[in-house]
Amino acid sequence: MSCSSRRVSVLGHKPTKLIHGLVPFLMVGFLALGGPQLRVVFSATGSLSGDALRGKDYYERTCSGCHSIDQDRIGPRHRGVVGRRIASVEGFEYSPALKMLRGVWQESLLDSWLKDPQLVAPGTAMGFQVTDARDRADVIAYLKEVSKGPKAKPKRHTVSIEEFRFFPETLIVRAGDTIVWKNEDQAPHTATAEGVFDSGHLTRGATWKYLADKKGTFEYICHLHPRMKAKLIVL
Ligand code: HEC
Repeated sequence: MSCSSRRVSVLGHKPTKLIHGLVPFLMVGFLALGGPQLRVVFSATGSLSGDALRGKDYYERTCSGCHSIDQDRIGPRHRGVVGRRIASVEGFEYSPALKMLRGVWQESLLDSWLKDPQLVAPGTAMGFQVTDARDRADVIAYLKEVSKGPKAKPKRHTVSIEEFRFFPETLIVRAGDTIVWKNEDQAPHTATAEGVFDSGHLTRGATWKYLADKKGTFEYICHLHPRMKAKLIVL
């Protein structure tokens, strides 16, 4: 394939017609391992779309074999990739095939890429395909979240404590966002992640605010009822 037709397929975003016959290509078996069995439960009250959360889960089970958000591994780091120029991470040794492409990673191009990298950049070093459209959409939603610049406006999220449970049980936010816990129960509760944050006792109707300045996954409990467990993920 000549260099110019390769560019056309990238700029045209959807080389779908060419795909037929190329599908059962590389490492599809590997994908079978990442099937739909492991889904993060997502509550509708969370502020990010469930897709980003599912995408994070998918990313960790599959992409992270070769990639990480902040470090170059077999593949380049991903923070900022949505909207980033193709093959532009300083110090990462891209294949000539990928370096030849011009353009920026937009959602539609990422979709084509994940469907079949070899079709977008024949000869690329990424031999991995995501055959399921929903998995692709989810993982792109996740990459979009981790690609928002530090300038993205901080958000406020609410976790309500009801009937001895935290809602949502898993909340995914960005560093700089604020989380407000509100106790709707009669009984007092706390939101405590040992060494990271601790609300102290919250009586009925009381709220407590936390500025998520530290990145990571924090499991937290109610100190008074340790069976109450939840998770805060700060990207
Ligand atoms: C088997 C290893 C492997 C897996 C698994 C893998 N990648 Fe890659 N990826 C690579 C390599 C290697 C490159 C660099 C390709 C090149 O230079 O041709 C790459 C490049 C990329 C790029 C281009 C980045 C840039 O800076 O231009 C994106 C986007 C990407 N991968 C996304 C993903 C996503 C999302 C997943 C999970 C669905 C994934 N990859 C899974 C190996 C992998």
